[in-house]
Amino acid sequence: MADNDSRAGLVYFTRALLDWTTQVHAPHDAALQQAFDAPGKHDLPAIQLGPSEARLTELLLKLAGARKVVEVGTLAGYSALRLARALPPDGEVHTIEFDPRHAEVARQVIATADESRRVTVHVGRGVDVLPTLEAKGPFCGIFIDADKESYDLYGRWAAKHLRPGGLLIGDNVFLFSQLLEDTPRAAAMRRFHEEAKQHFETVCIPTPDGMLLGIRR
Ligand SMILES: C[S@@+](CC[C@H](N)C(=O)[O-])C[C@H]1O[C@@H](n2cnc3c(N)ncnc32)[C@H](O)[C@@H]1O
Repeated sequence: MADNDSRAGLVYFTRALLDWTTQVHAPHDAALQQAFDAPGKHDLPAIQLGPSEARLTELLLKLAGARKVVEVGTLAGYSALRLARALPPDGEVHTIEFDPRHAEVARQVIATADESRRVTVHVGRGVDVLPTLEAKGPFCGIFIDADKESYDLYGRWAAKHLRPGGLLIGDNVFLFSQLLEDTPRAAAMRRFHEEAKQHFETVCIPTPDGMLLGIRR
C-alpha cells in the first residue's frame, strides 16, 4: 500500500476477496475446521486467529526451521494445531491456557488431530507456567496471544529463551486500536514493541489488529 493510500485510509480488499484468497491459500482440513469451530460449539469466546494469520504463523515457523515452540493463549487449540504443523515429527508445542474450561476443550480437539503428540496443553497463567518450561529451551519460536497487559513480560521471557534466529510472534499488538492510549495496558503493549526491537529484528504487520514479528539476533 503506498503512503498516500494509507493516509487516506484506503484498503483494496473486500470480504469476498478475503474469503476467496483464504480458501485458496489457507483452507481447513477436518481437524483445523473442528478446532476453528470449537469455541462456537462449546460456548467459548470466538477469538481465535483468522485462517490466514494462523497459516502465516505456520509458514514463518517452517521458514525458521522450528522444532520447539511455546504459545501463550491456547483457547480451543486452533493456532496450536497450525504451530504443530510447522514442526518436524519430533517437534514440541507447549501451549499455555489460563482457563481450565478452554484447556479441556483444546485437549479434546487436539487429541483427534494427527499432530496431537507434538502438543502439550499447560493449564495456568503464562507468568507462572513459562518458568516451568525454561529447562526445555532454548526455543525456536513463541506465539503470544493472551492477556495483553503481560505482553512486555512475555517479550522479555522470549528474549532470554529463544535461540538466535528464533521467531517472536505477537498478535493484537494494535491493542484493539488502543495502543496509544494513556493506560497501563497500552503502556505495557508499547513496552513490548519497544523492548522487542532491542533484541529482535522486528516488523509490525497491519493485520486487522496488528501482528508483531521478530527474529532473535
Ligand atoms: C485470543 S485467545 C487465544 C486464541 C488462540 N491462540 C487461537 O488463535 O486459537 C486468548 C486465550 O488466552 C487465555 N488467557 C488469558 N489470560 C491468560 C494468561 N494470563 N495466561 C494464559 N492464558 C491466558 C484466554 O483464556 C484465552 O483462551
